[in-house]
Amino acid sequence: MHHPVSRLLAVAAATLLLGEAVAYKYHKRQSDNETEFVIPGASSYNGLNLVPQMGWNNWNAFHCDVNETLLLTTAQDMANFGLRDLGYNYIVLDDCWSIGRNASGYLVENPEKFPSGMKSVVDRVHALGFKFGMYSSAGVLTCGRYPGSLGHEKADADLWASWGVDYIKYDNCFNQGQSGTPKLSFDRYKVMSDALNATGRDMVYAMCNWGNDDPYDWAYRIANSGRMSGDIYDSFNRPDARCPCTEAIGCAWPGFHCSVMNILNKMPAIQSRTMSGYFNDMDMLEVGNGGQSDSEYVVHFSMWAMNASPLLIGTNIGTLSPANLAIYSNPAIIALNQDPNANAAVRKWRYFVDPDETGEGEISLWTRGMDNGDKVIALLNAANTTMMMNATMNDIFLDERTAGAYREPVQLRTTWDVYDLWANRMSEEEASSILNGNGTTMGRNVTTPTRYNATALSYEDGLANNNTALLGVKVGTIEPSGTFSAEIARHSVGVYRLRPQPTGSLRKRDEL
Ligand code: GAL
Repeated sequence: MHHPVSRLLAVAAATLLLGEAVAYKYHKRQSDNETEFVIPGASSYNGLNLVPQMGWNNWNAFHCDVNETLLLTTAQDMANFGLRDLGYNYIVLDDCWSIGRNASGYLVENPEKFPSGMKSVVDRVHALGFKFGMYSSAGVLTCGRYPGSLGHEKADADLWASWGVDYIKYDNCFNQGQSGTPKLSFDRYKVMSDALNATGRDMVYAMCNWGNDDPYDWAYRIANSGRMSGDIYDSFNRPDARCPCTEAIGCAWPGFHCSVMNILNKMPAIQSRTMSGYFNDMDMLEVGNGGQSDSEYVVHFSMWAMNASPLLIGTNIGTLSPANLAIYSNPAIIALNQDPNANAAVRKWRYFVDPDETGEGEISLWTRGMDNGDKVIALLNAANTTMMMNATMNDIFLDERTAGAYREPVQLRTTWDVYDLWANRMSEEEASSILNGNGTTMGRNVTTPTRYNATALSYEDGLANNNTALLGVKVGTIEPSGTFSAEIARHSVGVYRLRPQPTGSLRKRDEL
């Protein structure tokens, strides 16, 4: 049984027992007349991808220039550099891999790019400890004008399952006008969802419809992630007419050439539509591709992690610089992304301070609750000068403060320890030595401030044990009703994990 219906029912029952009001939808499965529950935010329609997928995708760096050697050497390098064991465990092959269909209607891989055959490539990627992802489009052609899967869903899903594929990225080009309403897009994307499920093989379904037709209302029902913007390009904040929308809602033409800040600022409105098993995909990472400064790449990586976006490395691993390895390898930031609470961040405020020619001089405060009761804050300075930035307890806990009839929430009466999650960034020397093949394998009981092996010890368990690599460095405390201040350089971010001090050290009783 592919669908864990009984598990979903158990989740529903447990949630009701906990006394939480849940709204759930159900429908009758036409095939077997079973009732299937899908509770938004509580689980996944197919039980997969309960935290955001991580891995590597060739598109941003290589576009159509793909072949089996690239995939296999990338996988080997990622294992050697510790990236696989940080959680980057999908190798995803994007567009341009096929040459057409055979007489039986099955897609055929390009034999010049994949001389061993795709099945053999998948097997060898699996043998290196990775899962394998592939690409097609819910259209007659892919965006690169290779054969698409519209009308061939069953044959294509069966073929991928027979190859041992674990993940399908499903694009939106050449859809023959079958878009423009949520119903048209839902129906078209659901055909592949059903075909993937019918194979009986677990395959993560990564929709890539760029946020068309309000997928925030329906995609969690049929997919494991969904792109929420037009394509990223390697720019921090440059506006581009080909990416016309500044908001996710009602964006009729998502386009492409969307900057990091453009995509980021589309996220707050759809914050509630990120959930365990369905993540809003902010697109593949550009860190390492050369269009942004080091601190801008730190913003890009941090804010994708804060917002529970899939983290797919989009650069050439073979030429990765020490600085970029250090960014991709920060376990304290990855742990935010992989937190089981599976929420996106809330943008608590945004001020325009010194607009430059891009019109985007702005600062903002983002917060996110963690499963263990920690709170994470990001002070983002996208303006052009260094700023002293303040996060007040009232702003950090705005939601708790406004949750009902006024009663000071416990968070405002708590003293919080503040940990800087970038303070332990791996040095260039250490990163160079790993890139030069001198990295040591990390075991379950090895702790260093800079390196982590999530294959050996999950992020959840590491956090429960206060693993130093996940906590960064303590830089202060926030007293009840206090304010945390930090100087943040231009185009930079400070990311801090707030951890409540034990209840015994609550507010000091100064009357005694
Ligand atoms: C775009 C998609 C990109 C990439 C490209 C391939 O539509 O958003 O991520 O897959 O097609 O042609």
